[in-house]
Amino acid sequence: MYSSSSVATRFVLISILAVVATQLLLMRTVSSLNMTNAYLNHKCLVSQGKYKPGSSYEENLTLIISIIASEDGFVHGYSNFEDPELVSVTFQCRGDSFGSKCRSCYATAVAGLRRRCPRYKGAIIWYDQCVLEIISTNNTEGKIDKDNKVCMSNPKKMNVDSFREKWMTFLDNLVGRTFKSRYMYAAGDTRFGTKKLYGMVQCRNVLEPVYKSCQQCLRNLAMQFQDCWNGKQGARVLGTSCNFRFELYPFVSNKSGPN
Ligand SMILES: *[C@@H]1O[C@H](CO)[C@@H](O)[C@H](O)[C@H]1NC(C)=O
Ligand SMILES: *[C@@H]1O[C@H](CO)[C@@H](O)[C@H](O)[C@H]1NC(C)=O
Ligand SMILES: *[C@@H]1O[C@H](CO)[C@@H](O)[C@H](O)[C@H]1NC(C)=O
Ligand SMILES: *[C@@H]1O[C@H](CO)[C@@H](O)[C@H](O)[C@H]1NC(C)=O
Repeated sequence: MYSSSSVATRFVLISILAVVATQLLLMRTVSSLNMTNAYLNHKCLVSQGKYKPGSSYEENLTLIISIIASEDGFVHGYSNFEDPELVSVTFQCRGDSFGSKCRSCYATAVAGLRRRCPRYKGAIIWYDQCVLEIISTNNTEGKIDKDNKVCMSNPKKMNVDSFREKWMTFLDNLVGRTFKSRYMYAAGDTRFGTKKLYGMVQCRNVLEPVYKSCQQCLRNLAMQFQDCWNGKQGARVLGTSCNFRFELYPFVSNKSGPN
């Protein structure tokens, strides 16, 4: 999609920059007012090092970030941009978040990463409705994303028998439904004893093979964080390639994305 060796491509990209940079500034102002872009967590990838202020690395990264903002990725809530010699930037919105909502989350995430991980070559930030990941491609370790995951749960207990088994069954059920969505996203509700539980799953739509990887990714996350989510009234388990959440209340919009 992007070749750093192509001078022509660079030239075109750079000419887009001025326009886009202005847009980005405007978006930042707007999104700072929006509470729907709730911050969840972040991770600065310390092992990938930092770049120098004013370096060509910084300039090129800024350019890539602007290009993503100018693409139509927000329509479908997913964007990936790779410069083989520099970075891989991946951005994904929650499946019910697209268009301006998704764009706003991106602007918030870019600003959030700059503030929380200034000049780190690699960093990840999770918001309620999007995740932004910047990985320095020069660092091969950075490509294996085994460490970048987190679980946040409601400490309140939910007394439901076999909660773990019930959730795992429902999780698989939701994964089966991601097929219907080009966003690899599914949300739904089910009965857990006397309670109604609302759940959601999402995978990166570029995982290959799509369905099996999605299922594997979610199962791994669930296994790894059992102690965090099992028997709780709500939890978010966040990776970069997949994530899931459940609550006792509805938390996603009914609207599905544009197809
Ligand atoms: C905040 O996000 C909501 C959608 O979640 C949107 O309807 C609203 O226009 C946004 N507000 C601002 C100030 O961006
Ligand atoms: C940034 O882009 C320029 C122009 O294509 C290139 O010459 C330079 O090597 C890049 N810098 C880095 C650190 O990749
Ligand atoms: C990537 O690594 C190569 C050789 O290992 C080095 O020459 C190059 O400067 C590095 N690029 C960046 C952006 O760190
Ligand atoms: C979602 O759909 C259900 C029925 O499928 C409806 O009862 C509910 O009001 C809808 N919620 C929103 C936020 O549209």
